[in-house]
Amino acid sequence: MSVNYDTIAPEYVNYRIPDTRIDAAIRRHIVSGEKVLNVGAGQGSYEPVDCDVIAVEPSREMIARRAATKAKALQGLAEHLPFDDNSFDTSLAILTIHHWYDIQKGLRELKRVTRGKVIVLTWNGDFGDFWLPDYLPEIASIDAELFPSVNQLTEWLGANTTDEVLEIPYDCTDGFMCAYWRRPEMYLIPAARQAISTFSRVGDIRSGLSRLNTDIESGKWHKKYQSLLGKTSLDCGYRLVVHGNSVA
Ligand SMILES: C[S@@+](CC[C@H](N)C(=O)[O-])C[C@H]1O[C@@H](n2cnc3c(N)ncnc32)[C@H](O)[C@@H]1O
Repeated sequence: MSVNYDTIAPEYVNYRIPDTRIDAAIRRHIVSGEKVLNVGAGQGSYEPVDCDVIAVEPSREMIARRAATKAKALQGLAEHLPFDDNSFDTSLAILTIHHWYDIQKGLRELKRVTRGKVIVLTWNGDFGDFWLPDYLPEIASIDAELFPSVNQLTEWLGANTTDEVLEIPYDCTDGFMCAYWRRPEMYLIPAARQAISTFSRVGDIRSGLSRLNTDIESGKWHKKYQSLLGKTSLDCGYRLVVHGNSVA
């Protein structure tokens, strides 16, 4: 079942605010003035403002909610990019590959149209100390099925591919799955969940959420996950996978 981003789009703008620390981590791989392609671009998070950017995004509603200041977006899919070979210095695929119907084909397309770096932000299948699966175990199995391993990604991207840990700040503004690892009450807000695509794939989670609510109110959650409360960032499995070299 693929996720319909036309229905996710309205809450995305409210809860998926680009995080400056994540932006800086991505930005380290991009040179000012480059020609950049952003694939699965959504509403334009993490598009470098000092570059010449073109976005590709399948969802009409996500495109419609891009701010007027954002780069031009074409409606399309990673698997069929409407560009000539080597058209871009750098390509971005930020938290999108797990939605593609053929990830290997999409990555091949990104490599074809890119002279320099292909930058992929993804999840490696291991939540680490992220605790939400203790309440909603389905989440782990759904995501584990969707995301390729970093080894698989590296094999698909080929030689000259590296990966780095992207720790998630405790106050991350981009409300993806693990963003609220130190703010459990956020998972009780329906609109916040609506901005996280995995929640559109789960079944009835009312009893898990009710347990979470009870544990937050009784102080049990804080006692159980006390070791996390003093941390300012956490490795929840997010990885920045980078293929190739800058052309500049
Ligand atoms: C979690 S959002 C990420 C959006 C944006 N990159 C960001 O960081 O906010 C995933 C995006 O991938 C898009 N997507 C789904 N299938 C795709 C495909 N086959 N090719 C390209 N993008 C796709 C969705 O429409 C959605 O906008």
